[in-house]
Amino acid sequence: MRTFKNFLSFALPGGLFALGMLLSGCGKSEPATPASAKKGAKAVYTIGMSQCNLGEPWRVQMNADIKAAAAKHPNLHVIFKDAQNDTLQQRADVEEFVSAGVDLLIISPKEAAPLTEPVARAMDAGIPVIVLDRRLLGDKFTCFIGANNKEIGRAAGEWIVQKLGGQGNVVELEGLMTSTPGQDRHAGFREAIAGTGIKVIFVADMQWLEPNARQEMESALARFPKIDCVFSHNDDGAHGAYLAAQAAGRAKQILFVGIDALPQEGIGWVKQGILDATFQYPTGGAEAIDAALKILAGKKVPKDIALHSRFFDKANVATGGEPLKSFNAAAIK
Ligand code: FRU
Repeated sequence: MRTFKNFLSFALPGGLFALGMLLSGCGKSEPATPASAKKGAKAVYTIGMSQCNLGEPWRVQMNADIKAAAAKHPNLHVIFKDAQNDTLQQRADVEEFVSAGVDLLIISPKEAAPLTEPVARAMDAGIPVIVLDRRLLGDKFTCFIGANNKEIGRAAGEWIVQKLGGQGNVVELEGLMTSTPGQDRHAGFREAIAGTGIKVIFVADMQWLEPNARQEMESALARFPKIDCVFSHNDDGAHGAYLAAQAAGRAKQILFVGIDALPQEGIGWVKQGILDATFQYPTGGAEAIDAALKILAGKKVPKDIALHSRFFDKANVATGGEPLKSFNAAAIK
């Protein structure tokens, strides 16, 4: 529990305007212009960062990227909250940041629907919101930063079509399907394989978690004697599937494809021959701080900031991967 003194130390310099709005109950119709922009520049801005989960290395990296970028700006003070993969906790975290009157909120939401309303309330209270990596419903936020998940799913699908020569049995291990990256990676992948001889023989929502992916893959292996490829919506899932296949003595007959491409995990696993390909999903941490600085200075930022992705496979991993491209799946179909 934060002490009252701690509360004051960041609520008072940062959010008198937002706090006043809340207390007077007149926050609803106010557009999200930063309180600070209205009052002129401040010595220190407080940013609340609501992270949905720190159980996965990709999210630890996102926080580290935010911290490193913010450290270059002595006028920024970032407070991190970890919702531990609990949507209700993340709603409470956002509400707490709002009532404390932070100058700006960054959120990487666990799920789209349940986090939409608390973010809208932050905007109503005059707190600008940067949404990172997973989207919300509607458009009541200041800007979204992330790579195009549909394009990444499509590129992964085309890579698989090409490697399998347009024929084969695939297991799809989905990310949490109430989060937008899971939905978009799935949609792009399905578009890429449509009309080919690739069959998805087993689908499961592993909720982004390696232990779930491993368990689901055990079921798939038990049911299907011929599996040619696993497409997992993240590298952790692909790694879990690999471990299950290895335990069953079948890892060598299967291609494992994931998404994220963290240097130590995804890219490292491609180098070790555990994964066959990984598609980068940049965290956007540094870009979020860039955007925050502009917003706090009263400047406009684009509503949607698109990050670029690269892919890594055996052929290009040693030379740093390549930008996403089409793998000419249309020619194989
Ligand atoms: C981490 C993670 C990443 C994935 C991203 C999607 O929680 O599952 O592996 O790329 O979230 O939002």
